Amino acid sequence: MFKPDLTRADVTPEGVWMNRRKLISALGAGSIAGGLGLPALAQDEELTPHTWEQITGYNNFYEFGTGKGDPAENAGAMETQPWSVKVDGLVDNPGDYQLADLIGDIPTEERIYRFRCVEAWSMVIPWNGFELNKLLAKVGVQEGAKYVAFETAVLPDVMPGVNYPILDWPYREGLRLDEAMHPLTIMATGLYDKPIPNQNGAPMRLVVPWKYGFKSIKSIVRISLVEEEPHATWNQSNPREYGFYSNVNPEVDHPRWSQASERVIGSGLFGKRIDTLMFNGYADQVASLYEGMDLRENF
Ligand code: MTE
Repeated sequence: MFKPDLTRADVTPEGVWMNRRKLISALGAGSIAGGLGLPALAQDEELTPHTWEQITGYNNFYEFGTGKGDPAENAGAMETQPWSVKVDGLVDNPGDYQLADLIGDIPTEERIYRFRCVEAWSMVIPWNGFELNKLLAKVGVQEGAKYVAFETAVLPDVMPGVNYPILDWPYREGLRLDEAMHPLTIMATGLYDKPIPNQNGAPMRLVVPWKYGFKSIKSIVRISLVEEEPHATWNQSNPREYGFYSNVNPEVDHPRWSQASERVIGSGLFGKRIDTLMFNGYADQVASLYEGMDLRENF
């Protein structure tokens, strides 16, 4: 069962700055032994509480522009109701679904995850969402499916970026089926108990907390169960710099910068730096997925 290791105190402005010792005493030894433990917090570092303003004002969503403030400025024009999602490939129930029909009966819960961008910054974010495996169970994954492929909407009238060849639109991402089925992998539809803002990927976006943020594809309009490793936008655009797996790995540097540490957004002008943890701190939960793989080769 999922047990969160980060709490609202790590994200809300009113939350006290916690250090490891305080957190351990707050959680109690039992829950540490039985649950996720403290992977993302297992450093004698204070955590910076993140605010709504940081999470919704400092974004990557190139369809709306390449500046960190562009998505907040431009994404408001995107209409997310109604929203249709195509489900196809190796599934029992393919179709063009209204989002409410596809996910309306799946209960959502809060998941507080550290979000680590490949650009070596991070935030702690309180998502509302549900495990992707619940959606996959509904559509019925057929034998032979080995990967899940995702696509973002392309809306030239409201997305200024898609009128330029910044990336090969639509933005696409993919997960191996076992990664997609993992209970840490969620579809987020909310943030701080509010509907997810457009700049964060309304009405539904992927969140895979042990991978670099670019795996977290936004404003999803298509989900396909496929046999072959799918197209992943950053991997395709620059395979030397961005691998298909995109697991957070402090030992494998990006060719142009180190991945050993990360800047905590919102912690002063230059940002406090903390050490980056293997699999973003979720190694106990996910390392087994990659047993026997060379993670330098499959980066
Ligand atoms: N999804 C789409 N469709 N387009 C994008 O440009 N950027 C990715 C990812 N998902 C992106 C996207 C990158 S690089 C990151 S770091 C995260 O979204 C940022 O998510 P956030 O803005 O909610 O922090």
